[in-house]
Amino acid sequence: MAVSHYQVEGDDACDWTEWEAAGKTRGGPCERAVDSWTRYENDGWLAREAGANAFRFSVSWSRIEPKPGQFDERALERYVALIDHLISLDVEPVVTLFHYTHPSWFHNDSPWSSTSSADRFGEFAARVVKALGRRVRMYVPLNEPLVFLLAGYFDGQIPPGIADARLLNRVFDNLLAAHAAAAAAIREYAPQAAIGISHNMMAFAPERRWHPLDRLLTRVAHACYNRGLIEAFATGRWKFLLPPGTIISGRRPELTESLDFFGVNFYSRLHVRFPGTTRVVGDFAYRDRTGLGLTDNGWEIVPDEMAKMIKEASAVGRPLVITENGLADADDRLRPAYLRSHFDVIREAPVHGYFHWSLVDNYEWLDGYGPKFGLYEVDRATMERRPRPSLTVFRELGREFLRNSP
Ligand code: FCB
Repeated sequence: MAVSHYQVEGDDACDWTEWEAAGKTRGGPCERAVDSWTRYENDGWLAREAGANAFRFSVSWSRIEPKPGQFDERALERYVALIDHLISLDVEPVVTLFHYTHPSWFHNDSPWSSTSSADRFGEFAARVVKALGRRVRMYVPLNEPLVFLLAGYFDGQIPPGIADARLLNRVFDNLLAAHAAAAAAIREYAPQAAIGISHNMMAFAPERRWHPLDRLLTRVAHACYNRGLIEAFATGRWKFLLPPGTIISGRRPELTESLDFFGVNFYSRLHVRFPGTTRVVGDFAYRDRTGLGLTDNGWEIVPDEMAKMIKEASAVGRPLVITENGLADADDRLRPAYLRSHFDVIREAPVHGYFHWSLVDNYEWLDGYGPKFGLYEVDRATMERRPRPSLTVFRELGREFLRNSP
């Protein structure tokens, strides 16, 4: 089961709250989220009730380090309490250290375009890992660094909201340096823990199958979006083209030592059309080509493509885990079939775990509270959680998957 701090906890002042206040989201502000900061015990119970034996969540950097170098012990204690609670329920805590949000001071003090960013993140990571102690056996330093790079520094759609292709190389390198710095802290203070990464993988297909340029752009998109990070962790080097004309390349040999498992976040497929009419790099659109229906936020359902992405990710040479997979489906119309078809894939694939996105309905970033990803729906007036009918499907599939896992 997977959640992230900002999307569920509530009342967390950070760069995203400023972004919301400036009116830069489509879906409105996060505010109380679904109040998991106080309802964490209940959420742990719900995960257990869903049959999960592991719970992936992230910690909030802004709560833990509200001012540079000043750490809030109470915030750390609260995460320790969540971890202890999960362990008491026989649910393995899996801790993500970065899931998109930053303390407000970060982008002025040590932006990702400066090398001090990785040091800062390393210090934060060390502090967290020391506080959480030996109870945590799986860490994910970074969630979807490439998505953050593209949305934060290329499109400028999320904080820090910069659209400057000249910074991309440096920022990507610093993000990977940050992973390595956090990994070093984990090896030092929690040597028992396995270190992973969560990589968002997207299937791409040519909009017009006969069109050579659609096919070419599809290959370029795949090489950049899916393979770049795999290559970085497999070899310690990376080089890929980000359309229309930026080469991202670099070398960090320490990466190969800093990864024990590779996490895939898989959701959907984009159909690629060249040349773009709305964006310089081309048009990317979701279509219902499988006939399985589009989710509430318009994403195509493509379980077979998840199998291909798993195969692709196996090039990294580490155990694979699905660290996110799920859909927005308020009426629970598509979720039962979605769950079955994606479990059909993981049952046959070399994956060591599956984290469903998400436990509860939550704040879906720029789209606010529109998309409902929860196995439990949440009434935000009362914060009451109610199981969607497909919870029983998930529980059955999960039980069977666990029974057959080595
Ligand atoms: C992933 C994000 C996660 C959530 C899902 C729907 O890319 O990691 O926070 O928003 O998409």
